[in-house]
Amino acid sequence: MKENIIFCYSGTGNCLDMAKNIARKLGDTDIVMMRKYPAVTDVREAKRVGFIFPCYAGGLPGHVERYIRDIKVSPDAYTFGIAQCAAYKGEGLSKINEIIPLKYWAAVTHQCTCIYLFPHNLMMPMMGAVEAQARSEYLAGKIADDVKNNVVTRKKLGKALINKAEHSVWPTLVRMKAQDLKANDNCIMCGTCAKVCPMGNIKYTGKAVIFGDKCISCMACVQYCPKEAINVGKVTEKRERYHNVNITVDDLNQEIISF
Ligand SMILES: Cc1cc2nc3c(=O)[nH]c(=O)nc-3n(C[C@H](O)[C@H](O)[C@H](O)COP(=O)(O)O)c2cc1C
Repeated sequence: MKENIIFCYSGTGNCLDMAKNIARKLGDTDIVMMRKYPAVTDVREAKRVGFIFPCYAGGLPGHVERYIRDIKVSPDAYTFGIAQCAAYKGEGLSKINEIIPLKYWAAVTHQCTCIYLFPHNLMMPMMGAVEAQARSEYLAGKIADDVKNNVVTRKKLGKALINKAEHSVWPTLVRMKAQDLKANDNCIMCGTCAKVCPMGNIKYTGKAVIFGDKCISCMACVQYCPKEAINVGKVTEKRERYHNVNITVDDLNQEIISF
């Protein structure tokens, strides 16, 4: 087993890009993807174990919490968690900390991928994609240095009740939003949407794109469609698309990425 293991969920590439930048600097690292059930869960031989994920409505995305409950980490391992978000980190890090105590944590803001709520540059502080990417790479370097030096975070992890409330109504909102998902006439039946969906929720028959009822609102289908043919209601028709510039659909579909 590699010295360092990073478990990563990423809908549209920001978190995977950060995981790769940290792994590159650490060396001897496997990134284990959590878009589906992770290929490895027993990592008791690893010296450092990290978790990198986005904030979705104040909490953890998809099935991440359930998957983390199955992960076995040595009590001697150095553990770290990084939450990516547009503005606020939510309760995801606290949730992980309850399951696997974290020695170090950080939150990094990046472009907002939930474009049915906000345009992608509405992040804190507000900036465009190029600037946000440069900032994220710089912060990944600093975090990798901290992790390499086994730095321990001093401040306590806070829990905000507002995030709990937000996350508890989230499944209902997601179900409503999923009903607005549609592919328009620009669709060229390339199947990218089906390939990038972490939930296997999109069936592509070659003649039609059919959305099921398992959507988690990750926005990957909307953001990676080469023809911008998928929308969530009317709002996204006018919104510029965004996904991380360095991360392809094939990257997202890897089970383990080794450095
Ligand atoms: C469904 C959804 C919900 C989100 N909710 C929040 C949120 O509550 N707070 C926040 O600051 N950012 C939120 N974001 C923004 C993401 O956390 C941010 O864009 C992140 O960088 C996306 O990472 P990814 O590209 O690896 O999926 C949300 C994004 C999505 C798609």
